[in-house]
Amino acid sequence: MNRKTLLCFICCLLAQLIFYPSAAKTIIAKTAVWKYLDNGTTPPTGWNSYSFSDATWKSGAAELGFGDAPATTLLSSGITAYFRKKFTLYNPSQYASFSCRLRRDDGIVVYLNGAEVYRNNMPAGSISGTTTSVSSCSDDGNTILVFNVPLTAFNSGGNVMAAEVHNVSAGSTDLTFELELLGQLPAVLPVITRGPYIQSVTQQSALLHWRTNVPSDTKVSFGIGSNCPFTVTDTSMKTEHEICITGLQPNTKYFYKIGSTALVMQKGQSNYFYTAPYIGTVQPVRVWALGDFGNGSTEQGQVLQSYLNYLGPVKNDMWIWLGDNAYNTGTDQEYTAYVFNVYGSIFKNWNFYPAPGNHDYGQSGYQSAAALGTNFPYFSIFNLPVSAEAGGVASGTEKYYSYDWSNIHFIALDSYGALNHPGSPMYNWLQNDLQQNQQKWIIAYFHHPPFSKGTHNSDTEIEMMNMRQNIVPLLEQYGVDLVLSGHSHTYERSYFMHGHYGPENTFAAAHIVQPGNGAATPYMKDAQHNGTVYAVCGVGGKTSAATTSGYPHNAMVASYNSLAGSVVLDIYGDTLRYKFLKSDGSIPDEFVMVKTGQPRVEPATTVTDAGILVVPNPGSGIVQVRVPENLPGHLKIFDLRGRLVLSDELFGSKTMELEFLPVGVYHFVFENAQGLFRQKVVMSR
Ligand SMILES: [Fe+2]
Repeated sequence: MNRKTLLCFICCLLAQLIFYPSAAKTIIAKTAVWKYLDNGTTPPTGWNSYSFSDATWKSGAAELGFGDAPATTLLSSGITAYFRKKFTLYNPSQYASFSCRLRRDDGIVVYLNGAEVYRNNMPAGSISGTTTSVSSCSDDGNTILVFNVPLTAFNSGGNVMAAEVHNVSAGSTDLTFELELLGQLPAVLPVITRGPYIQSVTQQSALLHWRTNVPSDTKVSFGIGSNCPFTVTDTSMKTEHEICITGLQPNTKYFYKIGSTALVMQKGQSNYFYTAPYIGTVQPVRVWALGDFGNGSTEQGQVLQSYLNYLGPVKNDMWIWLGDNAYNTGTDQEYTAYVFNVYGSIFKNWNFYPAPGNHDYGQSGYQSAAALGTNFPYFSIFNLPVSAEAGGVASGTEKYYSYDWSNIHFIALDSYGALNHPGSPMYNWLQNDLQQNQQKWIIAYFHHPPFSKGTHNSDTEIEMMNMRQNIVPLLEQYGVDLVLSGHSHTYERSYFMHGHYGPENTFAAAHIVQPGNGAATPYMKDAQHNGTVYAVCGVGGKTSAATTSGYPHNAMVASYNSLAGSVVLDIYGDTLRYKFLKSDGSIPDEFVMVKTGQPRVEPATTVTDAGILVVPNPGSGIVQVRVPENLPGHLKIFDLRGRLVLSDELFGSKTMELEFLPVGVYHFVFENAQGLFRQKVVMSR
């Protein structure tokens, strides 16, 4: 956020604090339903206490009485009628004062929790069921009498207001009772100063977090409709409000209202979130990922706006933070100024999943004693799914964690404040998590990139070297598809690669699983799950023209410095579409990855006719496949997405009827003891 925006925010906040009108909350409405006793009997001592059972009393809405039409509830005539009203009030201390407004005919005594709080037109001393009022009521109970009730008379929780109304004589022809209880809110009302933001969303739950300027209790109302019929309350007084709502339906839009038990602070059509879809189901998932963004720069705003423009009406499902989220040292003030205030209302709706960077650790030193702890604002601001509530294996720490969404498994790692060597807690947890994963796609992200020659050098910086040498082999062993990082204020994106764990100069063609940039010809994940793309996107707000020795890194298929941008992922079923969205809205780099679980097929450039020949090619349905006649083998036909469409034993030549194949391009792969032979075939009509 720039200085002007920050100043505007502070002014708005001060205006709310100073000029927000003092307000009253109705605790007992004047039309409330009361329990009452009007049969001429006198209730036992203690009838006005909270614990007294009024189950046998009748009930009716105020105004209650007789003789002075129009009473809503008509009582029997007599000298005395008794009234009780139970109500719940959390934290009476959040009110400045309480007042009652009542109408009575003729005399009245009012009690709160058994203690007398008001008496009017009644004699002094003890009152019995036959005590008459001092005088008849000349106003017929039309005058509103107002009195204050001391805060100390209220309980936190259950309370009972009670009253007895006495006529001037047994033959009196009218009686009136109506009482309204109001709580006066303090001049400085609690107002939201951060959030709300959505955390740890699962299929059945979501956590809402917000901050207020002064302590209050916490109340969330929620529901599928905007009337929000369900309520969760936390009665402790606090400024950091974190409340988990449960019992939700998967893949559903929920509206919410937030505030205290005394005050709704925010509600409306823009207050909603979506629960997670059923784990493992196939549906389109949109992900926005960026790193190194929270610096209040013009570029930060441009990157945000470019994505909002790109997004249009499409729903954003996941928002991934790649670390160094708030500059310069991840203080709470910096998170307020450069994260919460910049992305603003997005936080009402989008669930996000941060990873920590060195700046979030206050630059305290890689794996230093401080960094191995959690005494940083990062760890109090967020509520991350560390208990496997959103899938994956419980990490028990917000330094690293995992979660599932649709058919994707996400893993957030800590490349600075956690040990990452084999046998370390994070390594062991990661291995366990990867072993147990059942989701098709695996996306891992952490701040320090294993491959970069941007503003940071992965050949010389220990954080980057350790992640590459210790963690990357584990990720590749379990078939992680995409690794996202930040730290370097450049954009760099690798080949579809496997097995490169050394410095840049050891990168070789053998590490490339499938050549090309994956744009025109999708990267095909093979049955062994080999092939991972590594991207550096530390340009969500920070940018730099600086590069380090060796730039661009040999493993990169795309490298850009001096620009800002973010990564957009669209994952649907077997297909992952990746785009680098530049802050001007252009897309200088993109690729597609297809993961069918079928064997990978080499692209046409590697096809050899030496071992297999298909004629005619293009074919129109019936083709002859000729293979070496000296050894039997196996023929497989794949479509362009790598899906196996036909499998057959083959020895010598064979005429095949393939009219059932849709028009398109296919890879014919024949394998025998001599080797693997491939031919690209066009099927037309
Ligand atoms: Fe960094």
